[in-house]
Amino acid sequence: MPLYSGRHHPARLMVLLIIIIIFSVATVSHFAASFVGPSEVDHPIDLLSEEHQAALAKHAHNASLGFSEIVYISMPGRTDRQDAMNVLAWFSGITLRLVPGVDGTVMPPKAIPDSAPKDIPPSVLGCFRAHANAWQYLLQTGMDTLLIFEDDIDWDPNIKETMERLSLQMQNSKLRQHPPSDYERKNAPYGLDWDVLYVGSYKHGGNPELKDVVQTWADPDVPGLKGVRGKGGILSALRMAGLNDSELETKRMLTPSYRTEKNTAYAISRQGAARLLFLLSYIGDLKAGDVDQDMTRLFIEGRLTGYTLTPPAFTQFKVGGSKDSDNVKVGETIHGKGNLKGQSPYIKDSARRLMVESLKLDNWNDYKKIAGPAKAN
Ligand SMILES: *[C@@H]1O[C@H](CO)[C@@H](O)[C@H](O)[C@H]1NC(C)=O
Ligand SMILES: *[C@@H]1O[C@H](CO)[C@@H](O)[C@H](O)[C@H]1NC(C)=O
Repeated sequence: MPLYSGRHHPARLMVLLIIIIIFSVATVSHFAASFVGPSEVDHPIDLLSEEHQAALAKHAHNASLGFSEIVYISMPGRTDRQDAMNVLAWFSGITLRLVPGVDGTVMPPKAIPDSAPKDIPPSVLGCFRAHANAWQYLLQTGMDTLLIFEDDIDWDPNIKETMERLSLQMQNSKLRQHPPSDYERKNAPYGLDWDVLYVGSYKHGGNPELKDVVQTWADPDVPGLKGVRGKGGILSALRMAGLNDSELETKRMLTPSYRTEKNTAYAISRQGAARLLFLLSYIGDLKAGDVDQDMTRLFIEGRLTGYTLTPPAFTQFKVGGSKDSDNVKVGETIHGKGNLKGQSPYIKDSARRLMVESLKLDNWNDYKKIAGPAKAN
């Protein structure tokens, strides 16, 4: 296989290497101490050690899940969804920054990409623009990566464990075309050899010409056969990768992105942000108009690189079917404040559901349990 396979150095080689380093440090410093400053060799970091990789993977437990930051896109008027996102983030121990959604009707015609369909609905155009603004935001900062959410998202309560496992896999990826740089080994829990990392895609299916380019691993937090049956292309993608039904209950996989759908959750690297802005805005190659459809086209054409996690770690929280989407006709409303009846396909358990449980309170009964029965007076 022409692909890079990140294997550990055999232990014997390491021992030999360490002896050589110690010897050369001693020798070199003897001769060089008088005319060179403190050497890097004084504090060697073994970037390939399992300890280092495990420690880096633990960054998945931080407030931005091991990415530099997390943003979420929400129409300024959807304060109901912003409220929900803030509570959910608090519940899950993550920090979110709002990227305001864009009203497509106020976009000047000159700013609309040349090849966008003439009859593109303003909401679809605005959706593209909001994502493009998030890409811009990454380039404006010194950050390496940005995880982008839409405001109707849900995830499993064990999301941090799932992301930690993904990080370990990506640090030892056999899907890479080039070995990781020292900078990546040191700083990037998910590597940086991608434009886009799809962690919430609904449609899957790697490149049919490269069926064997897949990495699978055990993750007890997958939704299992019941959770993926009859939904999109996820089940067939897992089967195509050679997973049998019992493995479907325990495994996730990573493939180079090919067919993807929905931008509920994906990360971008700086190079990815630059490439997306270049392709979809600078040269105006926005053909479908729906930004997720244009991104899948770019993967299929081989002009954008990415990895897709299957089953996805993030999903859409669906309330009132598609009516709750901000991409449908203006004036369409849902009634009944149906947040408690929402559904989250593809994930094992729902952080939104657990959040609701955790906030339930029966204060006076709790007091009574402590205080005991009231004394008669
Ligand atoms: C989480 O980890 C990533 C990767 O090391 C880092 O870039 C980011 O700043 C960390 N986030 C927080 C909130 O500490
Ligand atoms: C599924 O695949 C695994 C790993 O290849 C194997 O150990 C197991 O026996 C298979 N199970 C079935 C039901 O075929």
